[in-house]
Parts: sequence; C-alpha cells; structure tokens
Amino acid sequence: MPASIIDGKLVAQEIRSALSERISALKHKNIVPGLAVILVGEDPASVSYVTAKEQACADIGMKSFEYRLPDTTRTEELVALIHKLNADKAVHGILVQLPLPGHIDEFSVIEAIAPEKDVDGFTSINLGKMLLGQDAFIPCTPHGIIKLIEHTGIPTKGTHAVVVGRSNIVGKPLANLLIRKEINATVTICHTGTVNLADFTKHADILIACAGKAGLITADMVKPGACVIDVGVNRVPAPQSKKGWKLVGDVLFDEVLDVAGFITPVPGGVGPMTITMLLYNTVAAAEKMSV
Ligand code: GUN
Repeated sequence: MPASIIDGKLVAQEIRSALSERISALKHKNIVPGLAVILVGEDPASVSYVTAKEQACADIGMKSFEYRLPDTTRTEELVALIHKLNADKAVHGILVQLPLPGHIDEFSVIEAIAPEKDVDGFTSINLGKMLLGQDAFIPCTPHGIIKLIEHTGIPTKGTHAVVVGRSNIVGKPLANLLIRKEINATVTICHTGTVNLADFTKHADILIACAGKAGLITADMVKPGACVIDVGVNRVPAPQSKKGWKLVGDVLFDEVLDVAGFITPVPGGVGPMTITMLLYNTVAAAEKMSV
C-alpha cells in the first residue's frame, strides 16, 4: 500500500483559520499584526519565498512592510534598518530572509533583531530559550514539521527520529524539539560528515530530510512504514515546463511513496507550514505587545 500523503496545505489552513480569529480579536483593540520583511539581493528562490510570505500576510488580514534592498547593502545599513524597525510600534515581527549575500555579517544582523520581534526565532536569545524549554519563538520550519508529525497521529514516544541536515534554521532546532517530552523521540543527526547515511536512515521511524540535496533519499534508504518529512526545496531543470525548472525535495518521492507509511510532498508539504508558523509567531508577538 502506498504511503499516506501528508497534506501540508490542509494542516496550514486549519491553523490559519484559528489565527484569523485571534487577528479579529486584535483588530477590536485597534491592533493589526505587522511583519517587516527584509530581502537583500535578488536570489530568485528568496524572492519567491518573501513574496509568498507577504501574500500570506495580506490573505489573513495582517500588514507586511516590504524592504527590498540591493545586494550591495552593507551590514551597518541593515543593522540600522533593524534598529529603526525595533522601535516601530506598527511592526510586531521582523524577518530577514536568509541566506544573505556573503559580504554581510549574518550573525550581527540577526542579533540586532529585538528578541520580542524575532518571529523567525533565529536570535541567540530565542534559540537559547527554546533549548532550555523556556517561552520562546520557535523557528518556523521545525515548528511546522512538529505540527505535521502530530497531525499524522502516529505515536512518537520511543521512536527513532533521524534528521538529515544540521542547519541552524532547521536541523539543529528540529532535533531539539524532537527530544522534548511531548514527542520523546530518540534523535540521530546526520550531516555531510556522516559515513554511510543509509545505515542510519534505514532505522528511522521518523525520517526528516533537510539537507538541500535533490534526490538524496532513495527507497532503499527508508524503513518500511516510516514517516518521511521532506524539507528540501530544490530547483532542477525541467525542459518540458514553461519555466524550464521544477521544484523537488530531498526525497525521491515516487519511489519512497511505495515504502513509507506517511510522506510529505514537495511542494505542498512543509512549505505552507513554514509560512503559517511565521504568521503564528507574528500574531503571538502582537498579542504579547498588546497587553
Ligand atoms: N531561508 C530559508 N528558510 C528561511 C526561514 O524560515 N526564514 C528566513 N528568514 N530565511 C529563510
């Protein structure tokens, strides 16, 4: 039997409906949650991500403030903009789309964001609090993945979760969330230094691919019945498509479908959840600032 496909759009829609009510309640207090979205440069994938984030804000009745800056922007200019936004009462969340051009000091830029407006959860304050189990903004993609796993209803306690990828924005925070008592998985983190990746992935009850490498996970690397979450968003050439490319994940979907118990598609799996959890954090930020 093929795997059940986890519909990220549907789960995202359920969460967005609940958020709409909270946004209405804020509007009664004359507060419209506002998200500042900063993009430096014109990387096509980043342009499409920030456009989708701004559109999601508009769709749900939130404000977004766009800052599209040239790739010659200097660290100091970006930090100065963030300081201005930190002080702006109409701005409840600040997002700096990553990656930034190589000459920019990414750490200094992210650290300039006031922790109470860090709706990506990327500052050392929020990541540290998350690690310690304190109230914090949880990074959007890992948070969305946890919601998707919960949505399947599979028991997670005592399972073996294997995270393939160790980025600061997905792999590392996700591994931390998976070991929380609510999930209680035993976690292995694999990365480019892992020798014989399949030896680990084959024993995963929950397999999360967040390496950014198209087709990395093949059917023979997956335990029958596993829950497979594909975080990869890779553009690969597709001469038959009008754009000349298509999006694929890190998982070879067509073949893994026949082995896994649950699987997320790309697009339509993790992507809509990332944006939804960004809306979720921004609404939470606005609520906290309203009391
Ligand atoms: N680049 C890739 N994913 C993300 C994300 O969730 N937030 C930001 N700011 N940049 C990203």
